[in-house]
Amino acid sequence: MHTIALVSKKGGTGKSTLAIGLATAALADGHKVCLLETDPQGTLSHWRRRRMLAEPVVETVNDGAEVARRLPFLANCGVTLTIIDTAAGDNGTTAAAIGAADLCLIPARPSPADIEASVPTLASIRARGKPFAFVLNQTPPRSYRLNNAAAALGDTATSLNMMGVLALPYIVLRNDQQDALGQGLAVTEFALGGKSAEEIRGLWQWVWTRLVAITGADASAGLLTAPANEQADLRAVG
Ligand SMILES: Nc1ncnc2c1ncn2[C@@H]1O[C@H](COP(=O)(O)OP(=O)(O)OP(=O)(O)O)[C@@H](O)[C@H]1O
Ligand SMILES: [Mg+2]
Repeated sequence: MHTIALVSKKGGTGKSTLAIGLATAALADGHKVCLLETDPQGTLSHWRRRRMLAEPVVETVNDGAEVARRLPFLANCGVTLTIIDTAAGDNGTTAAAIGAADLCLIPARPSPADIEASVPTLASIRARGKPFAFVLNQTPPRSYRLNNAAAALGDTATSLNMMGVLALPYIVLRNDQQDALGQGLAVTEFALGGKSAEEIRGLWQWVWTRLVAITGADASAGLLTAPANEQADLRAVG
C-alpha cells in the first residue's frame, strides 16, 4: 500500500480538495483507495455524506496512535492507496501522518504569503526525512501553461521546479472544483472533459510516477483490472 499525506500548516490551501481529486483519479486508475480524515473539521466526511457512490471509503481517525494502527489494517484489507487529509496548524496527528507517508504533498496558493507560510510545514517534513512535493493550487487561469505560471510566480516556482519538488500541472482556481464537492463528486466525475479534470488526472499521474520511484513498487501491482467505467458501475450504490 502507498500512503500520501496532504499537509500545510496554513488553512484553505486545498488539502481536502486535492485529497478528494487525487483519490478519485486513482480510483479510476484501478486503485483501491481509502481517504483517511484526521481533521475534526470533517470536510471529507461531509463530502462523503453527499456522495451517492460507494468509493472511495472515508475513514476518520482522532489521533496519531490511531493513524499508526489503521494503516496496516487498511493494507491488510487490500487498500492500495491511502490518502491522509490533515488539519491546518500543527498537532501530533499531522506529525504521525507525515511519519507514515511515502510522500507528503504541500498545497500552496501562488502568493508570497502561502509560499512563505509553507516553510514550517516543510521543516516538519524534512525533520522526518520524508519525500515531498509542492502543489500549486488555485492559480489564476492565465497561469495554466507552465511558462506563464512560472513567470507569474517568479523565481520560487522556477527553482522548486528545477529541484523536482514542484508537482505538475498547477491546479487552476475554477468554479467546477467547488461545485463538484458540493454534489459529493470529484471534479473528474463532475466535468469529465473539463480542464480541471484534466489537471487533476495529470497531477495524479505525476504523483503516481513519483510514488513508484520512491517505493520501487511495481506500477501495476494490486490494481483492479476492470475498466474504469465498469468499476464505476460496481461502486454505484444508489
Ligand atoms: N482549485 C480550486 N479551484 C477553486 N476552488 C478551490 C480550489 N481548491 C480549493 N478550492 C476551494 O478553496 C477552499 C479551501 O479548500 P480546502 O477546504 O480544500 O482547503 P484545506 O487546505 O483543506 O482547508 P483547511 O486548512 O481549512 O482544512 C474551499 O472552499 C475549496 O472549495
Ligand atoms: Mg481541509
